[in-house]
Amino acid sequence: MQERISPARRVSGTLRLPGDKSISHRYAMLAAIAEGDTHIRNYSIGADCQSTLGAVSALGAAVERRDGEVVIQGRGLEGLEAPRADIDAGNSGSTIRMLSGILAAQNFSSRIHGDESLSRRPMDRIMRPLSEMGARIAARDGRFPPLAITGARLKPIEYTLPVPSAQVKSCVLFAGLYADGATVVHEPIRSRDHTEIALREFGADIAVERRKITLRGRPRLAGRNLTVPSDLSSAAFFMVAALLIPDSELVIQGVGLNPTRSTLLDFLMSIGASIKVLNVAQVNGELAGDIRISSAPIRGGVIEKETTAALIDEIPVLAVLGAASENGLIIRDAGELRVKETDRIATVVENFRRMGIAAEASPDGLRVPGRQRFRAAAFDSFGDHRIAMAFAVAALRSDGESTIDNADSASVSFPGFFSILRQVSASGSVQ
Ligand code: S3P
Repeated sequence: MQERISPARRVSGTLRLPGDKSISHRYAMLAAIAEGDTHIRNYSIGADCQSTLGAVSALGAAVERRDGEVVIQGRGLEGLEAPRADIDAGNSGSTIRMLSGILAAQNFSSRIHGDESLSRRPMDRIMRPLSEMGARIAARDGRFPPLAITGARLKPIEYTLPVPSAQVKSCVLFAGLYADGATVVHEPIRSRDHTEIALREFGADIAVERRKITLRGRPRLAGRNLTVPSDLSSAAFFMVAALLIPDSELVIQGVGLNPTRSTLLDFLMSIGASIKVLNVAQVNGELAGDIRISSAPIRGGVIEKETTAALIDEIPVLAVLGAASENGLIIRDAGELRVKETDRIATVVENFRRMGIAAEASPDGLRVPGRQRFRAAAFDSFGDHRIAMAFAVAALRSDGESTIDNADSASVSFPGFFSILRQVSASGSVQ
């Protein structure tokens, strides 16, 4: 599907966005192995999180949609059933990587696969710790989906994450639920901690001390009533839109503000954005609040080290902002971008090229000079939701109508993105 985007004169309005993708996956997986029903409000409507619902229901945890909630009938830690067919994770790295931790501990075998993009993404990062725990997993070429998982009795391990990855951390912790004794994960670079918070919410015995997480195996998890905050990574596209177009102001309500994710706000403020956070509250252990953002001159800067890990999903749209900033943006330590839904360094540079924007890629980074002119272009998402949305935002500042091919990939995390973008952007030409 192709979308056409006209330049915006102004971006304004009050928005409420779909539920957080990361939190939704975790709630669904834990609900499936908890005892009793879990009710989830504002569960992500993105295709990735529907893949997780499909997976847990294939494992015997009934899923129903009732009055705007997702209700999952928990089967208890030992109650999942062998799936009748291969599990389809679709485009979702979180589904295949995190669920594998649970599948590895079952008393049945299973196979899990995904779409073309997921089939190119490395799984050895979860296979290594899981096999240390005693799991038996076979993968295409030893590291790519599909995975064939033979359930086994797992033992606890102490594991230091070699890459900063919340998916790997979560996979090991989910497997650790089934191991007798304490599973310990050390993370040299902090990654999002939704799993730790969700495990505590469901009643697991988990302790976090600086960068060391200790989880006791074989807890009784109890079904819960949960509300998912809106996705800050989805909000990022609108925030950048408001920063790119003069005289803009947006209020985005009920957004997740977990400190392992809200580095985005700190970074944007550090380069000149004007952001106010209002009505902060805690919901099921997660912070959420309203964000008010208005356009302001953006200086540009450097994203590196821990900041890169904390902003990894936002980098494509931040790169777009960088091209409009005064001094440009330098991104370092971002090798992980090369193994996302697409090689995001390559797909960002290619779309930049199409709009006449100069950028210099390195194996693990990107340099985007500032003060560049945005030309209307024919963009491609290359099947990557965040690339589709990042360049839709770039198109708002361009000098004519742009098109985005394969724009429907946005629905992986954010169905309805394009219609909300149209609602908030009054079209008109930008000088
Ligand atoms: C996610 C973790 C990140 C992120 C992805 C979601 C999660 O991936 O890019 O969109 O929900 O844990 P990695 O764990 O591979 O860094």
